[in-house]
Amino acid sequence: MPEYRLLINGAEHRVEAEPSETLLSVLRDRLNFTGTKYGCGEGECGACTVLIEGEPIKSCQRRMAAVAGKKIVTIEGLAESGRLHPVQQAFLDQEAMQCAYCTPGMIMAAVGLLKRNPHPSEAEIVRGMSGNMCRCGTYPRIVAAVQQAAKGGHNG
Ligand code: FES
Repeated sequence: MPEYRLLINGAEHRVEAEPSETLLSVLRDRLNFTGTKYGCGEGECGACTVLIEGEPIKSCQRRMAAVAGKKIVTIEGLAESGRLHPVQQAFLDQEAMQCAYCTPGMIMAAVGLLKRNPHPSEAEIVRGMSGNMCRCGTYPRIVAAVQQAAKGGHNG
């Protein structure tokens, strides 16, 4: 098995994996970054979203051969010095979750959206988050959380 070098949350990791293995399974099963969730495994639900070179990407759809050497950020890498990332805080303040299985992927998608577009309209948020599904139906609160994070405030 080849060895791959990945930069995850600012730290270098070397991991042996098959080239055809997905980034999602390597993150979860070999490196123990279990915050990234397995939902559908088919690129439909967004539970597995991580940032690759700053872009929100469904990690179940990326093979190891395609991500070697890339900068990856997972949900575990967002908080800094014990402080939640503003998007994490906004999801908590707005109670934008029910079962919360989709939440890490939602947050990563929202972080990517706000990097691209720091002040999105409601329609842009809905469109930007449309690749992420919440089976509990907390979409209105998710939109409110992204709006809060865009404003940079706490509306708890
Ligand atoms: Fe990757 Fe559903 S697990 S999109």
